[in-house]
Amino acid sequence: MFSQRIDGLQPSPIRAVLGVIDRPGMVSFAGGLPATQMLPEWSGSLTQDVMQYGPSEGDPDLRAVVADRLRGMGVDAPPDRVMILSGSQQGIDLVAKLVIDAGTRTAVEFPTYLAALQVFRFYGARFVDVGTAAAAAALAYVVPTFGNPTGRCASAAERDALARTCLASGTILFEDDPYRELAYETVDRRPIVARMSGGSWIYQGSFSKTFAPGLRIGFLAASDDLFAPLLMLKQAVDLHSSRLSQRIVHDAVTAPDWPARLSALAAFYRTRRDCFGRQLHRHFSDLADWDEPSGGLFFWLRLKREIDTRTLLDEAIACGVAFMPGEAFYPNAPVLGTMRLNFSHADAGDADRGLAVLADLIREHRR
Ligand SMILES: Cc1ncc(COP(=O)(O)O)c(C=O)c1O
Repeated sequence: MFSQRIDGLQPSPIRAVLGVIDRPGMVSFAGGLPATQMLPEWSGSLTQDVMQYGPSEGDPDLRAVVADRLRGMGVDAPPDRVMILSGSQQGIDLVAKLVIDAGTRTAVEFPTYLAALQVFRFYGARFVDVGTAAAAAALAYVVPTFGNPTGRCASAAERDALARTCLASGTILFEDDPYRELAYETVDRRPIVARMSGGSWIYQGSFSKTFAPGLRIGFLAASDDLFAPLLMLKQAVDLHSSRLSQRIVHDAVTAPDWPARLSALAAFYRTRRDCFGRQLHRHFSDLADWDEPSGGLFFWLRLKREIDTRTLLDEAIACGVAFMPGEAFYPNAPVLGTMRLNFSHADAGDADRGLAVLADLIREHRR
């Protein structure tokens, strides 16, 4: 009844967990959700033109704004190679459709963003480690800046090395960068694609983490050889992204207070990160190791004892706490005993309570 591809279709573990986080009293460390109080209210006025069909590439004024920002980051992307996406998740699907057949070598970080793995798997990807086998892959997908799930920021040397490898081998570099504005320390975030002159690449970003995920607006820029086929794929998927959402995002990011809003957001999350870090020390110092993330939304815990944290999830949810088992972020065999904890969504009191519950569960399990 269904296509052969459907055999590879798996539900997203994250969407399944997100289904329970609205239960009253639930503390969620699960999704990469912005803090509710940092979401914008909107009181602008709209003109009728946004109700009409629009261009597949996206509305020109928003593309121009994005191109301008990309130029400031050293990315070679004039407006005609910028495409507005229905969330950057759509970019992952378009790129996978363009590049991945059954068995296509796809280089990723171990671990990496699980909803990218879900898409790549669907198209038949064979996963290899980007650290060692990027040269032998058709596509190298990375989240180098405050990565999901680890929160890690790749060094300048690592970025340069991957740029060199992709240029030398002809591997398409796909850089996914939704967290770059959420920086809590000064680190080198110059995109990898800005370190390549020539080569085939896609760079994408999102307004979900800095503005409003519900609007579903992201963007990509690509090298000349990839942009036209990606645009044809976009046309076939949804004609274009919501013009209403594009207008709201455009008006927000061109408003005079946008830089101040970004700074306030980073300051708010820095405070949450610091508080969460102290709470982790209180509850988890005998149970796990972790590095403090210099940006983004996640702490990545490595438990001192190997426990498959997937086995803890149901019990944690029954106790009113949701988290993401780290095992789901590994492309091939999972490394056991890892957890991804989001620190942006829960307030200090809830986070403390939730971490105490999780730590108790792990201690119980060890016994
Ligand atoms: C690495 C990464 N890429 C892409 C996305 C998708 O973001 P959106 O579709 O909301 O732009 C996310 C969301 O959490 C993410 O963490």
